[in-house]
Amino acid sequence: MSLDLQLSGKTAIVTGGSAGIGLAIAKALYTEGVNVVIAARNQEKLETAVADIQSLPTSGAKVISVSADITQAESIEKVVSTTLEQFGQIDILINNAGSARAGSFLELGDDAFLDAWNLKLLGYIRLVRAVVPHQKNRRDGRIVNIIGGAGRTPRPSFLPGGTTNAALLNFTRGISKELAQYNIRINAISPGLTATERAESLALQNAQIRGVSVEEIKAESLKAIPLGKVVKPEEIAALALFLVSDLASSITGGEIIVDGGSTPGV
Ligand SMILES: NC(=O)c1ccc[n+]([C@@H]2O[C@H](COP(=O)([O-])OP(=O)(O)OC[C@H]3O[C@@H](n4cnc5c(N)ncnc54)[C@H](OP(=O)(O)O)[C@@H]3O)[C@@H](O)[C@H]2O)c1
Repeated sequence: MSLDLQLSGKTAIVTGGSAGIGLAIAKALYTEGVNVVIAARNQEKLETAVADIQSLPTSGAKVISVSADITQAESIEKVVSTTLEQFGQIDILINNAGSARAGSFLELGDDAFLDAWNLKLLGYIRLVRAVVPHQKNRRDGRIVNIIGGAGRTPRPSFLPGGTTNAALLNFTRGISKELAQYNIRINAISPGLTATERAESLALQNAQIRGVSVEEIKAESLKAIPLGKVVKPEEIAALALFLVSDLASSITGGEIIVDGGSTPGV
């Protein structure tokens, strides 16, 4: 059996595609011949990412960037309309832009929760709402939500992120049945600790909360991973490629955990 993903010629939106997991997924799609639209806020980082992606081999794919703040409804519209103007179709949506503050519960105000819910929970929901009418007409759609282990295995110091992720799991499973009738598949990948800029800043925040060094936090985190290693963004990207390909044509409403065994959950 061949593992030819047959993704060449398709078009994908990757939110948060200028760094970390999003950038790794954008690169993987591009090298498979997929036209990629990366969306994030910082224009300079976007330009660097586009150049980085364009340096990779591809079979005729293009990559463009859209400067967009996913917390703003009008930005979502801009990402979708630019993609349709440039490429005429949206086969794949990778919902990935997310960021939540760590902190002890009594020190976090409503804003920490509202910021996390607004960016990641509502951002993902709004993008699904925006691309589905188009995918429904074409009777084909492949959506991957990058969620995170704290949805099922919550931690007291990460409740804004954990509650966001739990709600997104509910959304992913909840909407999958309705989308299936239009041949639109939606799945979740829940990474554990993954080597990105965000993981670095969370380690710093946790060190400050606990009054210990960043090195101690990192050593503790590593010890809690049964396979003994931090996930590489490329591992998440490889799974995303599989999930958006026809090799996964019977998989929808699922959550696949990539965390070295650290969040058993239930
Ligand atoms: N890394 C981990 O250990 C880990 C574990 C579990 C789950 N996750 C999840 O995986 C996803 C990606 O995480 P990561 O570690 O790759 O993060 P990252 O390295 O911090 O990258 C985040 C990306 O999102 C963009 N972004 C942030 N806020 C945005 C906004 N308001 N509008 C548009 N784009 C925005 C950033 O660009 P700009 O700042 O320029 O906008 C950047 O491109 C997140 O949803 C995160 O919760 C990560």
